Amino acid sequence: MTPLTGTQMDQIIGRVRSIAKNYGDFENEIYAQGMLGGHVPAITTDVAALEQVAASALSKTAYDYIVGAAGTGATARANLEAFDRRRIVQRMLTGTDRRTYDSTVLGTHMPAPLIIAPMGVQTLAHPDGELATARAAAALELTYIHSTQASHTFEEVAAASGDGSRWYQLYWSNDRAIRESFLHRAKIAGYTTLVLTVDTTTVSWRPRDLDNGFLPFLAQQGVANYFSDPAFLAGLAKTVEDDPLAAALHFSEVYSDPTLSWDDLPFLRDHWEGPITLKGIVAVEDARRAIDSGVDGLIVSNHGGRQVDGAIAALDALDHIAAAVGDDITVLFDSGIRSGADIVKALALGARAVLIGRPVLFGLGLGGRDGVEHVLRCLLAEMDLTIALSGYASHRDLRPDMITLR
Ligand code: FNR
Repeated sequence: MTPLTGTQMDQIIGRVRSIAKNYGDFENEIYAQGMLGGHVPAITTDVAALEQVAASALSKTAYDYIVGAAGTGATARANLEAFDRRRIVQRMLTGTDRRTYDSTVLGTHMPAPLIIAPMGVQTLAHPDGELATARAAAALELTYIHSTQASHTFEEVAAASGDGSRWYQLYWSNDRAIRESFLHRAKIAGYTTLVLTVDTTTVSWRPRDLDNGFLPFLAQQGVANYFSDPAFLAGLAKTVEDDPLAAALHFSEVYSDPTLSWDDLPFLRDHWEGPITLKGIVAVEDARRAIDSGVDGLIVSNHGGRQVDGAIAALDALDHIAAAVGDDITVLFDSGIRSGADIVKALALGARAVLIGRPVLFGLGLGGRDGVEHVLRCLLAEMDLTIALSGYASHRDLRPDMITLR
């Protein structure tokens, strides 16, 4: 068949979109593009394969920084294996046609329980970095989480994100004035929920980056929030432009506080009015302490295996934590999600929403904003089709007993 012209194709795609009812209908668009227009997707639809595909699009140092993990990589591998070990027991003849995924998570309404994980230094993947990711998230009405270590400032990303929903992830600086200033700027710039990452009081032993001698922050990448901050700049003898190295070294002195403990958390309530969640919890005891500390949520995560080598797979921790805390606190999850089926497994095992990490950066590296949008649409479509074909009409119907160990 002769491929259709661009205008004809646009009309067909417009029609396919107008009759789409579910996220899974994205596949109709792709098949129409292929069969009628002769176009295949610019980026693979196999999200798990992106890590390999992205290798050629990124510099070695950037690629290694993104895929890298702590030590031998055992935790990062365990994250993926934990998903593979669990299998879905699908149900038949349930008569489901239209699916709904809208949720309210920690005060934010979202059309599906998918959130962009906070990831720093996104300019390593693409020059537009966080701006592209925030735009893609906003286009799909998904929530973007801004990392303290971003390559663009709170304000720049807020402008890119527009009406899009956005949360802020804090790394606890040892300088109280910087913490206060970051929280203030985030609030003014429209970030609504606070994520305190508690598993990274220092950077772990990461052989890929060590062998490359590469840490982006010393090259003044991923420090935009600091270099634009009055409280940080007050600690410098010269301007960043006059002495960028001194500024980078000052950053390395203030970005973290290894003395951070549960006793410090009331500071957050004093400086943040919205919901607060702790990211990096894997022990049931810590989940209980999180409830006692009065925070609103916790994110079961081992930072994608980037911090403690040999740690428990995040999905294995989710099982226990969700069962132990019940509805006493909002439980979110990340680390190892590489497909729509993985999302279904995590939601079934008790996560109220999941955070998507590395696949977003691979999409960013391969296609900027469009690449991120593509990856997110693939994950949403595959999640939706998996739920539909498993006999359910919503993530709310999923239960732990639909997951079995192989
Ligand atoms: C991260 N992650 C992260 N987490 C965080 O709280 N603040 C940050 O600045 C970063 N930065 C960051 C950079 C890069 C390159 C990666 C890959 C990850 C961790 C992130 O939020 C999430 O926990 C993991 O990415 C989840 O694991 P997977 O699914 O990516 O394997």
